[in-house]
Amino acid sequence: MGRLADRRVVLGVAGGIAAYKAVEVCRRLVDAGAHVTPVLTAAATRFVGPLTFSALASEDAHVALFDGPDAIPHTRLGQQADVIVVAPATARVIAAYVAGLSDDLLTATLLATRAPVIICPAMHTEMWEHPAVQDNLSVLRRRGVHIVEPEAGRLAGGDVGMGRLADADRIIAAVERALTAPDLGGLRVLVTAGGTREPIDPVRFIGNRSSGKQGHAVAEEAAHRGAKVVLVTTTDRATTAGVDVIRVDTAAEMADAVFARSEEADVVVMAAAVADFKPSTTRDRKIKKSDGIPEVVLEPTVDILAELGRRKRAGQVIVGFAAETHDVRANARRKLEDKRVDLVVANDVAEPGAGFEHDTNRVLLIGRDGTDVDVPMSDKREVARAILDVVAPRKGMA
Ligand code: C5P
Repeated sequence: MGRLADRRVVLGVAGGIAAYKAVEVCRRLVDAGAHVTPVLTAAATRFVGPLTFSALASEDAHVALFDGPDAIPHTRLGQQADVIVVAPATARVIAAYVAGLSDDLLTATLLATRAPVIICPAMHTEMWEHPAVQDNLSVLRRRGVHIVEPEAGRLAGGDVGMGRLADADRIIAAVERALTAPDLGGLRVLVTAGGTREPIDPVRFIGNRSSGKQGHAVAEEAAHRGAKVVLVTTTDRATTAGVDVIRVDTAAEMADAVFARSEEADVVVMAAAVADFKPSTTRDRKIKKSDGIPEVVLEPTVDILAELGRRKRAGQVIVGFAAETHDVRANARRKLEDKRVDLVVANDVAEPGAGFEHDTNRVLLIGRDGTDVDVPMSDKREVARAILDVVAPRKGMA
């Protein structure tokens, strides 16, 4: 039996056409040995009857706060659950969860738990792309909630687009992952994130388009898996509790912050886009347009990653990133050698939806030990998981 055996799973089902697919998710969870309690919203019962779930699951389906002999079903369900998975999650359930509203059994149960929560959104493309929904999902991610992104395909009413409930395989895999013991417990992980800014004068700088999302996702995932995490970042992006944040701007500041802590780190993940060049002088006063076109002379910055490779102590794992536009695998292999790192996370920044600023990424993981993993287009948190899955066994932690 796998990780789901004998685990208590609350399966939340919200009112979307994808509610019928929750029947398959329920069956798969039960087949894997889990004790499943389905909790349906009122709208969900318009699509699938609670009887269907009761017949399949090990526990009766619940539909309302006040439908049974139990006076406080939400606290009992929330406290006893090992994991809660909501599939499908509608925009309403997501918004209620973000706001802390608890006006039905499902939303009340979501608030009354300390168990990991997995949200599997499904809705029409317009709703999925609405900033209200995307902002709410960002808040949930920050709170450590796992989001299983929807897929593109056929939607209700014959429409086609993004927003279809994730495949049952992906949902089950997410539930299994959420039940994984913290496999990085005791590990000290140092992560960098964001693009550095090299000042020309007090108001101008040379920067790049890195958003810091991938580095933050690595830090958050490492903390979630029990590591002690220090994140050196150039962004003001919020992060989860348990991540020790050091805010820097320039490559030199990042280098100082990293070298001060790299000695004691078991794993260093250089996800930051560090400038390769900086202005050789920074003016104290703003350069005036009336002074004519200025000449900006550049000089190289410290290559933090290469220096980490030189200083690497036995047992330490150094992970570098490579943003490439062509020959991704070959360039990653070269970087592995040039910078003496253990793993290179290479992404093709020319590919739509990958790399800078996006919420998703598609990467190749190329390791010194022969690791060659192609991570398909996924949420950056998912990419972070794949990176740490490669790192964990090297540290003998998994
Ligand atoms: O050589 P290149 O800049 O392509 O390598 C990218 C990797 O090197 C990234 O992991 C980045 O964080 C790191 N890097 C660094 N210091 C620099 C430039 C890049 O640590 N000055």
